[in-house]
Amino acid sequence: SSLESLDNTVPPANRQQNRSLTPVAMPHDRFKDTPDTDPSLPANRTWGRAILDRVPGSTLGNASVKAAFINDEATLNKAIETAVDKGKAWGALSGDERAAILHRAGDALEARRADLLEVMASETGKTIDQGDPEVSEAVDFAHYYAESARKLDAVDGATFVPAKLTVVTPPWNFPVAIPAGSTLAALAAGSAVVIKPAKQAARSGAVMVEALWEAGVPKDVLTMVQLGERELGTQLISHPAVDRVILTGGYETAELFRSFRKDLPLLAETSGKNAIIVTPSADLDLAAKDVAYSAFGHAGQKCSAASLVILVGSVAKSKRFHNQLIDGVTSLKVGYPQDPTSQMGPIIEPANGKLLNALTTLGEGENWAVEPKKLDGTGKLWSPGVRYGVKRGSYFHLTEFFGPVLGVMTADNLEEAIAIQNQIEYGLTAGLHSLNSEELGIWLDGIQAGNLYVNRGITGAIVQRQPFGGWKKSAVGAGTKAGGPNYLAGLGDWTPAEATA
Ligand code: ALA
Repeated sequence: SSLESLDNTVPPANRQQNRSLTPVAMPHDRFKDTPDTDPSLPANRTWGRAILDRVPGSTLGNASVKAAFINDEATLNKAIETAVDKGKAWGALSGDERAAILHRAGDALEARRADLLEVMASETGKTIDQGDPEVSEAVDFAHYYAESARKLDAVDGATFVPAKLTVVTPPWNFPVAIPAGSTLAALAAGSAVVIKPAKQAARSGAVMVEALWEAGVPKDVLTMVQLGERELGTQLISHPAVDRVILTGGYETAELFRSFRKDLPLLAETSGKNAIIVTPSADLDLAAKDVAYSAFGHAGQKCSAASLVILVGSVAKSKRFHNQLIDGVTSLKVGYPQDPTSQMGPIIEPANGKLLNALTTLGEGENWAVEPKKLDGTGKLWSPGVRYGVKRGSYFHLTEFFGPVLGVMTADNLEEAIAIQNQIEYGLTAGLHSLNSEELGIWLDGIQAGNLYVNRGITGAIVQRQPFGGWKKSAVGAGTKAGGPNYLAGLGDWTPAEATA
């Protein structure tokens, strides 16, 4: 292997997943990723502070933008039937016509960048530096899937029949980019959508949806709901008119959805427990920085976050790596996003369950290099923690947490480090820090994860450049990687083109 072969959009054979979809090559020659806001420019910092000043009393989304609040089965069924009915005209538009509206949706999301940052900070505690790339990603999804829609019509020998109705159930941790990506993909494919934004981030989802409505997506084609009763969720997922469900969330949720309906056509990106491997050939300063950012960005609440770092051979004893990591972590400024100097914000809800355990309890042979501290009475603001001595097969090694705590493991050699990662039942992201191309080859051949990153952090996939999706228990059902060339193909069915007279 050589560095030139490092293109994670082309998985080696051992990372091919068992997919039943027809792959369609769709070059995206017209697509360009949207730049993030440059915080080094004073004007942008002033812009950011003005957004944060509005956060304490933010009422964005409380007034005009509201999900239909559905309290009974009859109303839910009506909403589903209406979406299917109005969706017919949407599905009958040409790819070019849908693309025009979706490009406008991208522009509308960009125009609301400040509002989206405000509402994400207010609802989920997301800092501006974390939220800004998320808005860019949402904008990218709009333009990228718009181009994908145009390409769908141009496939020779097959006709694409869009799903009639797609249900989108996004998480709270990327409350704009993930609901936007899933919704825009389904709309681009020609499907009607019923979206149920995460409860904790309902307003962020609503501001996003409003931008799409404003851009010309009909309200009946894109219906946003919140559900009064848990049973209504079951009802929505099981409704026979629903022919795709896009879920981003925990593996257990995917299993639950499947228990509602056996033949559920699910496209799910599920849990992650991700590791970065650092070998002795690595640039250790860069590795320490990337590990800290991947572990503690958004307080460790990304499915892509680094929960483990596996130090190979002499790195385990490297004072340099240790000092850089610990200095980096202890110097992180923890605080609420309203304070523009905060580098790590709060967690979404007071720590409890598995996460509380991970923040407070050491396993056998473990010790705190940096002990996490609860910083106020809310239970949401924690300083980051780093535990050393995590043993293979231990609770911390194998359990998914969603919070600011990193475990350090050691391995005698790269093969052992790979085995440590592969012992985990999930396979979402994985990182290697190494400057040795032979090591790179070994890792690429052996590591079991959907998204692989070399000599950089393992969060923050970029649309088109790093199509995002998992392997093993990090993916359930059909579907290819989001933000990649074949994602829309999973949102409908292909039929052989009819012979023309
Ligand atoms: N797509 C998100 C990331 O890459 C989850 O961090």
